[in-house]
Amino acid sequence: MSLVDPRVAAARSISAVTTGKSLERALSAYRDHPDRGLIFELCYGVVRHWFSLSKQLDSRLKTPLRKKDYDLYCLILVGSYQLQNSAIADHAAVNLTVEAARHLGKDWACGLVNAILRRPRESVDQSDETRFEAPSWLIRSIQRHYPDSAENILRVNNTRAPMTLRVNRNRQTAESLAQILLNEGIPTIPGSLTNALSLVTPQAVNTIPGYSEGWFTVQDEASQRAAHLLEPQPTTRVLDACAAPGIKALQLLETCADIKLTAIDIDPTRGSYGTDESLRLGLPFELRVGDATRRDWWDGELFDSILIDAPCTGTGTLRRKPDIKVHRTLEDVVVLQRKQQDLLTNLWHMLASGGTLLYSTCSILPDENDSVIHNFLDQTTDAAAVPIDADWGHATLFGRQCLPIERGPDGFFYSRIAKLP
Ligand SMILES: C[S@@+](CC[C@H](N)C(=O)[O-])C[C@H]1O[C@@H](n2cnc3c(N)ncnc32)[C@H](O)[C@@H]1O
Repeated sequence: MSLVDPRVAAARSISAVTTGKSLERALSAYRDHPDRGLIFELCYGVVRHWFSLSKQLDSRLKTPLRKKDYDLYCLILVGSYQLQNSAIADHAAVNLTVEAARHLGKDWACGLVNAILRRPRESVDQSDETRFEAPSWLIRSIQRHYPDSAENILRVNNTRAPMTLRVNRNRQTAESLAQILLNEGIPTIPGSLTNALSLVTPQAVNTIPGYSEGWFTVQDEASQRAAHLLEPQPTTRVLDACAAPGIKALQLLETCADIKLTAIDIDPTRGSYGTDESLRLGLPFELRVGDATRRDWWDGELFDSILIDAPCTGTGTLRRKPDIKVHRTLEDVVVLQRKQQDLLTNLWHMLASGGTLLYSTCSILPDENDSVIHNFLDQTTDAAAVPIDADWGHATLFGRQCLPIERGPDGFFYSRIAKLP
């Protein structure tokens, strides 16, 4: 079978993203492609710069392309991205993109692609959307909630996130792994958490020494704080209510293997990662399918602690998932907020008196964070937020918020709630 041209692969993946597929899923078909690195770079680059590149292309097309030629539209964006935002030489970028139009089976479009890509760059439209590469609802929301740091947040969102490892403390220390990696020419930077280590230059995870041996897991440092805040104790009953793919659940087991963990998720398609990781890390882990806004999966025994890593807009992780900027709408925030509220209300009944519930999101929007907790506390007499004393992020009324930091952790929110006896 002949290999798909990398630019064609990128154009098709981006086209799939514009019809609602996540970038990660769209790219899964090309994980083993020999030009994987280039395909991923082109896709992430175009989606990261979607707002300016598509606006510019729309203004260059005399008549819009037909719906069935949307792959071609995305291919021209791939060409523009190479010219404007990558280190690929201009002549190679143009020639290979024109050639890719042929591979798409659209020889008739080679002249058009060539003409658009060779056209001198005009001064770009300077709307906020194109300047910040984000939808206006999100820009306005960030500006409203973070008037002093909005520009910085929006700028950082278009940078590349670091690749951070959670060192498996049962098999390695961060210091020893750092030394092993350095010996292999992979320098790292220690994080502020004991087991966090960031790579100076990200690389495919299975090429990092110790991967097969289960010495580490890729997990952003902000996300790693979950287990530190929940502090699971031996023999206690712990619920991870929104557990797929299982990163935090496995972290909880890694932190304390003796917990009685129940991990559920509503999505039956997201379990395979956890199963593979459970084998790699040597941790017994079973992810059950269940809807945490209902009780039909529950055996009736109360939990000592509950983690709700709630479904959210993911606005703290736009560097890793730039497709969120293309997919999410303001309406989604309202829908998600309702869901977050339902999760809290339902799961609270399953928490033992004196127990702790940790609510987390990878969102920087207070509507999904403090507002949700505020509403919940207003309606729940036996619940109290426990302040999180920490040297990261900033305190909010009911929890702690961190914003994405350049070359640092993602944006995340945590709130710890105690069930009063
Ligand atoms: C932020 S992700 C969780 C990530 C996971 N905690 C980890 O660290 O790997 C949110 C998860 O919530 C799940 N979810 C959404 N609604 C749910 C519900 N009603 N019940 C259980 N899980 C739900 C989604 O399928 C998604 O996997």
